[in-house]
Amino acid sequence: MGKVTSGLTMSLDGFIAGPNDGPEHPLGENGMRLFDWYGSGDTEYVVPSGGMTFKVSPQSAEMLFEAFSSIGAIVTGRRTFDITNGWGGRHPLDVPIVVLTHAVPEGWDYEGSPFTFVTDGVESAVEKARELAGEKDVAVGAASLVQQCLRARLLDEVHVDIVSVLLGGGVRMFDHLGPEHIELERTEIVEAPDVTHMTFRVVKGV
Ligand SMILES: NC(=O)c1ccc[n+]([C@@H]2O[C@H](COP(=O)([O-])OP(=O)(O)OC[C@H]3O[C@@H](n4cnc5c(N)ncnc54)[C@H](OP(=O)(O)O)[C@@H]3O)[C@@H](O)[C@H]2O)c1
Repeated sequence: MGKVTSGLTMSLDGFIAGPNDGPEHPLGENGMRLFDWYGSGDTEYVVPSGGMTFKVSPQSAEMLFEAFSSIGAIVTGRRTFDITNGWGGRHPLDVPIVVLTHAVPEGWDYEGSPFTFVTDGVESAVEKARELAGEKDVAVGAASLVQQCLRARLLDEVHVDIVSVLLGGGVRMFDHLGPEHIELERTEIVEAPDVTHMTFRVVKGV
């Protein structure tokens, strides 16, 4: 069985999107700065679906290759799904997507749809994603989901791509976690010119 990991790009002050995110500004005002590293290098990295090419540093290309080829399913929240309009019908990684929501949207639950909508809580969403991922990893792809997974001790690993910018406001990655102490052990750090990729194991039982 694969692991459950997060995979989000975060500003140094802890935001994964700037203020006022929505379909017009998917990462909020000035938030696209977070994704500059996907286009600022000289090494091409083609996503597994073949539908998107990034130009990153050699270090980031290696990290993306390892991370993306091991992901078998993604769990995300309804806001990310709505803001991206379901990635236009197909996520760039071309893996099954589980969307946690209070109400299933119309028109997306068709036969062969890559989207599965789960309405009975985060444990159920992660369980469904694990089932769909088979032996591969589950990536948790939105802030509210990372927070719920951390609280419920469902995350094995926290991976963050840290960008040297202070956004000052927006959607915080580590919000609403409560007072409980969560211990992490850093397992990998990849320094690239414009982003630092860091991976932490969530220490269970602490
Ligand atoms: N920087 C990055 O790498 C990165 C990557 C992905 C996304 N983002 C950004 O992250 C932002 C969205 O993240 P977010 O944390 O604000 O929202 P989110 O997790 O995408 O969605 C939150 C929504 O999901 C539903 N939901 C969450 N938990 C639920 C539960 N336990 N039961 C039922 N429904 C539940 C609710 O929607 P309903 O009540 O409407 O059902 C809730 O409002 C966007 O700006 C997006 O662009 C950034």
